[in-house]
Amino acid sequence: MTLRSVIAGCGGHLPPNVLDNDALAARFGLDTSDAWIRERSGITQRHLAGPDESCASLGAEAARKALAHAGAAVDEVDGIIVATATPDHAFPSTAVRIQALLGMTRGFGFDLSAACTGFVYALSVADAMIRAGQAKSLLVIGSEVYSRILDWTDRGTCVLFGDGAGAVLLRAEEGERGVLSTHLHADGRHGDILLVEGTAGPLRMAGREVFKHAVNKLSAVVDEALAANSIGREDVQWLVPHQANIRIIEAMGKKLGLPRERVVVTVDRHANTSAASVPLALAEAVHDGRIQRGDLVLLEAIGGGLTWGGALVRF
Ligand SMILES: CC(C)(COP(=O)(O)OP(=O)(O)OC[C@H]1O[C@@H](n2cnc3c(N)ncnc32)[C@H](O)[C@@H]1OP(=O)(O)O)[C@@H](O)C(=O)NCCC(=O)NCCS
Repeated sequence: MTLRSVIAGCGGHLPPNVLDNDALAARFGLDTSDAWIRERSGITQRHLAGPDESCASLGAEAARKALAHAGAAVDEVDGIIVATATPDHAFPSTAVRIQALLGMTRGFGFDLSAACTGFVYALSVADAMIRAGQAKSLLVIGSEVYSRILDWTDRGTCVLFGDGAGAVLLRAEEGERGVLSTHLHADGRHGDILLVEGTAGPLRMAGREVFKHAVNKLSAVVDEALAANSIGREDVQWLVPHQANIRIIEAMGKKLGLPRERVVVTVDRHANTSAASVPLALAEAVHDGRIQRGDLVLLEAIGGGLTWGGALVRF
């Protein structure tokens, strides 16, 4: 039998404040339209954190839901890994703030930064720790408050992002289910096409260039994940892609030959929540009953760095 990291539970949390495209344009006096945003990105609305919400509070709420879904108590958890590009503080890390919010007094916690690919990176690190015997149970969280690093006068970027958090509880188990492989990449030569100025922002993006890289690099990582597991694209049952743009998502679904209903889409309602987007989409499709135990699920993401990666999971 093989020791694997099984996704024992998932949870997502979105701030209650929702702004649709028209309300966003009106609020910030932007020269844009609902039609332009929908057509170019598929986004109709986004959730934005209020003054009492933080990267840690959103992440803690998602973690609570993941623990409840797994039927786990916090004392089971050996550590917390948080993927975020928008931590509340340089330190302490978001992970240890979440640890305190959950009432955990043992284990370890640290943050990891890989922009929109952050959750796939964190999943990969957590999976390696579990398989190496360093931990038996880990919370892996993506949590973001991009609303705090956006330039609200730049219509080319501010309409595309939202706030939220997603989490999974990974547990060491013997068997066929769990994370089958993860594939991480970075190419710092392209760092300037999507970056946050300094540490507080704003975010700047050359959208068209990012778009081209996204389609090419995500296609390559999908092929890599299939080849590493000696499986064909017809074996993949669900694609849970990074939620940046519906056109990129549809291109990936087409590449895998998946019907539309097998590609999990949340970008229309969540916009791009960066490291939170994949675990939020996964949690939605698991909790509404689409993704079932034993299904083969492909996760992929690309983001600033450039960083990109994929993971194949037998849920
Ligand atoms: C950002 C994105 C939606 C823009 O779509 P696009 O078709 O590439 O559009 P462009 O950036 O070339 O801009 C086209 C025109 O629309 C304008 N425009 C940009 N934002 C606009 C908005 N919100 N409303 C109206 N017009 C807008 C531009 O100013 C430009 O006008 P010009 O031709 O007069 O200069 C698209 O490039 C994209 O999705 N890129 C990938 C972004 C991404 O996924 N990032 C995250 C990765 S993690």
